[in-house]
Amino acid sequence: MDLIKVIEGSTKLWVPDAKKYKLDSKMPVFFNPVMHLNRDITVDIVKTLDKPKSLDLLAGTGAKGIRLAVEANAKVDLNDANPSAVKLIKKNAKLNKVEVEVFNESANKLLRNSRRTYDFIDIDPFGTPVPFLAQSLNRLRKSGIVAVTATDTSALCGTYPKACMRKYDSLNQKTQMMFEIGTRILIKKVVADGLNIGIALEPVFAHSSNHYMRVYLRRVENLRKVRQNLKFLFLCPNCFTWKFENKMPETKVRCGCGKYSEILGPMWTGSLYDKKLLKQIPDSNKTVQKIKEEVDVFGYYNYHMMSKKLKDVGELPKMDFIIEKIRKKGFKASRTHFSPTGIKTNLPAKSFLRLLYS
Ligand SMILES: C[S@@+](CC[C@H](N)C(=O)[O-])C[C@H]1O[C@@H](n2cnc3c(N)ncnc32)[C@H](O)[C@@H]1O
Ligand SMILES: [Zn+2]
Repeated sequence: MDLIKVIEGSTKLWVPDAKKYKLDSKMPVFFNPVMHLNRDITVDIVKTLDKPKSLDLLAGTGAKGIRLAVEANAKVDLNDANPSAVKLIKKNAKLNKVEVEVFNESANKLLRNSRRTYDFIDIDPFGTPVPFLAQSLNRLRKSGIVAVTATDTSALCGTYPKACMRKYDSLNQKTQMMFEIGTRILIKKVVADGLNIGIALEPVFAHSSNHYMRVYLRRVENLRKVRQNLKFLFLCPNCFTWKFENKMPETKVRCGCGKYSEILGPMWTGSLYDKKLLKQIPDSNKTVQKIKEEVDVFGYYNYHMMSKKLKDVGELPKMDFIIEKIRKKGFKASRTHFSPTGIKTNLPAKSFLRLLYS
């Protein structure tokens, strides 16, 4: 294998030379430089834990797990089914002079046969994380955090509604807020798999970036409170209003405006961020900066989609001008990292539209 040495954070890593291999699951050992944002945020979140016992379940080159050992003071186990990955993980541990344990198992077999429990578990698969959730949650300690990456965004975001239903047991389709809903469906799946085995989880951080979604959930106590946050969303494609319902309706549902609502979910409808954790992590990249400025309310209005629909509105005012106007009315409002054309606010759709015209 042709290797090059790179530095990520304060960790040195041997990785396959990107010039020599095509970036896909057939690489001798998988490494995607673009995912450094994913790894940077992981390191910052794990740093908030106290000497966490951590598991990098699908470790590849070991980039993430080794960084946790070097930069977050974590005691780390790493695993990969690929023997070449295991060799490279060991080489990278040596390069950074950190003691880690390395396993060469199929992930679920490792989890099933181990008695170990962890304060932090990272699930970073090719595509969907669903096959690894239940077994991982079984190994998560009280107050521990599980971090999950999904790169099957077209299923999650509703471009392929059938795939979303098959993998995540939720309805989704392309709507004004598909990226946030996709993220909330991923969270729901982790929460639901936890509830199945009597484990309560709630999100503490989430982002949708480039070609993937990444969610962090903490193990908590209150199963009932967690369950109450899983709901269906009735979203009107005509007047943009929405509401939550606990049950899937038996028939089509009309919005107050007379048009049929889109029925999406179930999904996580509660907060996506732990405020205390947000304060603890540094603003070391644009994603975290944007998230810290984001109001933590459900959904967003897609300004671009709305303006297309409301042709008669004429020239639309600038997004920042609208955000300021909403705030002056006493409501919360901000941009959102989920979409460059999204406005997050607790202002109801009718008032939002009125504000565009006024
Ligand atoms: C997306 S890569 C991990 C990238 C790594 N976390 C990083 O940040 O660079 C997924 C890894 O999972 C491994 N893998 C896939 N299926 C597996 C399974 N069932 N058990 C164990 N490892 C598996 C692959 O060999 C690959 O190295
Ligand atoms: Zn409507």
